[in-house]
Amino acid sequence: MVTKLITLSAIAEVRAQVCAWKKSALRVALVPTMGNLHDGHLSLVQLARTHADKVVASVFVNPTQFGPNEDFASYPRTLATDQVLLESGGCDLLFAPSAEEMYKAKPSLNIDVGPIGTILCGAVRPGHFNGVATVVAKLLNIVQPDVAVFGEKDFQQLMVIRQLVQQLDFPVEIIAAPTVREPNGLARSSRNQYLTSDERQLASVIYATLLQMRDSIRAGKAIKDVETSASQALLKAGLKPDYAVVRNAQDLEIVEKNVKSEVALIAARLGKARLIDNLSWLC
Ligand code: PAF
Repeated sequence: MVTKLITLSAIAEVRAQVCAWKKSALRVALVPTMGNLHDGHLSLVQLARTHADKVVASVFVNPTQFGPNEDFASYPRTLATDQVLLESGGCDLLFAPSAEEMYKAKPSLNIDVGPIGTILCGAVRPGHFNGVATVVAKLLNIVQPDVAVFGEKDFQQLMVIRQLVQQLDFPVEIIAAPTVREPNGLARSSRNQYLTSDERQLASVIYATLLQMRDSIRAGKAIKDVETSASQALLKAGLKPDYAVVRNAQDLEIVEKNVKSEVALIAARLGKARLIDNLSWLC
């Protein structure tokens, strides 16, 4: 039986609905999204279902996490299709606020995530992770879920959110959902739709390069050499890498001795898209 999806845009209404569920001792999960949903998002909803009785998804294209020359205006907004997908995916409540509802007066307060917000994607997109942390904090305060699910594809974002929740004592469990991939290995992303069909094929080099990076490290190659070869492979395929690096998977620091796990991370531009992906492994 398909659950009837409730769609709400007012914070007070969402709070009242979640409060009613909690009074009935139901566990609530939150899946924050920016909409334009695909299989990757639906896998987050499915995972959320296994941890809670009720699943809330939010669709909000958050202006504060986009830089002045980024794709905020053109980011695909497909609420009607998102509603259909969420309903068939077993979501109970869609919170789809306006920017005015989320940022009533021009806010004077912003969360500063510190050093992690200034490396890798944060170096290329200054202020991006502060915007993410601020909107996620607001969503957690509005919905007050027992668990919240985020995709591993956004590895750095997941780490920022884990730090946010731990350091500001949000009473929520953060659950990481595995990356969903196209048959050629390309990670599912709303931004893939900026790619032409030829570019979609070319973009498979990202995952192939991540696998190559992992295998080379495991074979004992030096990290610097692995990173240089990865950038060369991306450039050769016609992509422009922002970075192709191997880091400590616990904190994204440069790898020192005796790390528990490592992660290879790539961000690269292709046509109109900026694509990110990662692959982690135990050492
Ligand atoms: O990953 C995203 O879609 C966004 O960064 C998030 C977590 C929904 C915050 O706007």
